[in-house]
Amino acid sequence: MIVTKPPLGWNSWNTFGHDINETLILEAADIMAESGLKDCGYEYIVIDDCWSLKERDENGLLVPDPEKFPHGMKYVADHIHLKGLKFGMYSCAGNLTCAGYPASYEHEWDDAKTFADWGVDYLKYDYCFHPLSVPGHVLYRSMALALQNCGRDILFSACSWGADETRHWIKSTGAHIWRSTGDIFDNWQSLKDLSLKAPQSIEYSGMNCFMDMDMLIVGMHGKGHVGLTGLTDDEYRMHFALWALLGSPLMIGCDIRNMDEVTKEILTNKELIKINQDASYNMPFALNFNYDDEEPCDFPAYAKILENGDIAIGLFNFSEHEQHHWDPARVTTDMIGLPESTGKTLHLTELYTGEEHVVTNGTFWEQIPPHSCKIYRARIIDK
Ligand code: GLA
Repeated sequence: MIVTKPPLGWNSWNTFGHDINETLILEAADIMAESGLKDCGYEYIVIDDCWSLKERDENGLLVPDPEKFPHGMKYVADHIHLKGLKFGMYSCAGNLTCAGYPASYEHEWDDAKTFADWGVDYLKYDYCFHPLSVPGHVLYRSMALALQNCGRDILFSACSWGADETRHWIKSTGAHIWRSTGDIFDNWQSLKDLSLKAPQSIEYSGMNCFMDMDMLIVGMHGKGHVGLTGLTDDEYRMHFALWALLGSPLMIGCDIRNMDEVTKEILTNKELIKINQDASYNMPFALNFNYDDEEPCDFPAYAKILENGDIAIGLFNFSEHEQHHWDPARVTTDMIGLPESTGKTLHLTELYTGEEHVVTNGTFWEQIPPHSCKIYRARIIDK
């Protein structure tokens, strides 16, 4: 199975944690299919941790908790598939999952077969309680091999949080996406930390092995399992724009049954989703800092060349002050590979507001307020 684009979907963890059940998952599938999310490309409904009983059965197989999932997982899968969506589940490379449920170490082949029998299309695979004597790449390869031989296409989502230098070994394991950082929480500090760590992994990301910056917190507003203070709508816009531009999977983490209008508007921004899903397979590049810089840049600016020759450009202000012209978010067309000598310039469309303008003297610099961003699609035009 080759995964050419970052997967889009919804995952139960951020809002619901252990508080999951069949009704919630079926409702999430219905809403995804009917609210316009599916039309934007969202397709995976993923059940995270805490879905099973605490013990395997007498044959050593995983058992869905009958109180939470009274009809079993095949029933859930069938419902999700009937809606034209795909079904994701969760296990872990250790003896136990992070929340203490049985996990797949030394059960890889049985569990892969179980997931295939249930109709699973996606497996998130965590890294808690893993044996220290076995290297991470072996643990992930073991499950990848079992999945590749289980008779069903299952997208393999590695979740080792960037630990043990994941980026150096993950490509060889067969994982299709891989978590590059620790868990996200619904507050500004968490968003900032994860966002400014992304440059360390970006060069290791690409088709069939995308870095995963973690599930989205857009629209959580402090509610739910990883809900803390919540963020402002502008901060959620910034979060979604960065994840989209950097090619991270877009796995919604809020309660999609109760999205407010702004949340829905952000998550269904088709122009941003197009950039995330662009078929050029080009990865973004940093415009104003080196990936090796020790100090994170509070004004990261990235660009990505798109399939039709347009360029996506994102300017972000993670600082606490207005951006000044001496801050490094000043971007020139040279940096993008378009020197003035070409006689060309850029026509910019901002993808949240629709504002348009043309770059006049080879430089564009915007006063971006703290905790916000500008995200453009740029078309190359004659001067
Ligand atoms: C880890 C993962 C989270 C979530 C929890 C579940 O912390 O990184 O995304 O899956 O485990 O227990």
